[in-house]
Amino acid sequence: MRIRKAVIPAAGLGTRFLPATKAVPKEMLPIIDTPTIQYIVKEVVDSGIEEIIFVTSKGKDSILDHFDTYDDLEKKLEREGKTDLVNLLKETSQMAKFVSIRQPQPKGLGHAVLCAKDLIGDEPFVVLLGDDLVDSSIPCTKQMIDVYEKENKSVVALMRVGDEDVPKFGICGGHQDTERVYTLDTMVEKPSLAEAPSNLAIVGRYILKPSIFKYLEQIDLGKGGELQLTDAMARMMKVEGFVGYEFVGDRYDAGDKFGFIQANIAYALKRRDIAPRLRSYLKELVANMK
Ligand code: UTP
Repeated sequence: MRIRKAVIPAAGLGTRFLPATKAVPKEMLPIIDTPTIQYIVKEVVDSGIEEIIFVTSKGKDSILDHFDTYDDLEKKLEREGKTDLVNLLKETSQMAKFVSIRQPQPKGLGHAVLCAKDLIGDEPFVVLLGDDLVDSSIPCTKQMIDVYEKENKSVVALMRVGDEDVPKFGICGGHQDTERVYTLDTMVEKPSLAEAPSNLAIVGRYILKPSIFKYLEQIDLGKGGELQLTDAMARMMKVEGFVGYEFVGDRYDAGDKFGFIQANIAYALKRRDIAPRLRSYLKELVANMK
C-alpha cells in the first residue's frame, strides 16, 4: 500500500533548549530563516506524502499557525507589490494537508505516535521527529520508502555513532544484507556501551506498518518512565521482522544546542545569499583564534 501519511511528534518539552523553549516550541526555532519543522515538512512532501499529522501539546499552537493561511497579511503584501513574500507565505500553507492531535502529557515518543492511531487508520505511515534534520539530495524519507516498497517490512533509519554517543540513542543489531540494508534482530533503547549490539543508532525517521499500534498498546513504560517507541518496535521485529537502513545524508539534532548551531552553519553554507560572506567570516574567525 502506498505511503500517504506522516506523523511528526512535536509535543516534547524541549528541556535541552531552555530558556528558549519556555514559550517557543523548539520545532519552531529557525535554521537561518525557516523553522526546523518546515524543513521536515518539506522532506516528506518531496517524498510524495500528502497528509501530515502534527502531534502537539500546550504551548505548541504556533506550529499549526505557521502552516495556516494568512489572508490579511497576503493581501497587504500583494498591495505593496511584495510578490516574493506572498509566495513564501502561500508555499508554507499549501505544502500538504495538515491535521493535528494533542498529546495531553509528554509520556514519550511511543505515546505521541499512539495518539495518532485514529488519524492513521489501517495504512503504513512515516514518523519523523520534529527536531531531527537530514540534509540529502534524495530526501531521507524517499530513500526509506524505496526500501519499504522492496522489503515490505517496517523500516528504521540508522546512523553509525562513536562509542561515546551509544548510550544516547536506541541501538540496533542484526544481519547486514546489502551495503545499507540490515535485517534487525536487536533493538535496545539507550544501552550502556557493554550492552550495545553495535554502533548503529536509530535516528528520527521510521516507516511503520499500522500493527505498531497493537504493540504500543501492549508495552509498559520503559526507560525514563516513558512509553518508548523502540520497545514497541522491538516486539514488532520479533513477530513481523524489521529492516534497518543506513541512509545517505547528513543528520543534525536541532533539539540539541550544538546540533542546532551545526545545522545553521551547514545550511547557511549552502545558501547562495549567505554562503560567500559566511565563508570568509568563518575563515577570519578561525585565523584569529588563539
Ligand atoms: P526528544 O526527547 O528530543 O524531545 O524527542 P523532548 O523531550 O522535547 O526534548 P528534551 O530532551 O526535553 O530537550 C524527540 C521528538 O519527539 C517529540 C519531541 O517534541 C521531539 O520532536 N516528543 C517527545 C513528543 O511528541 N512527545 C513526547 O512525550 C516526547
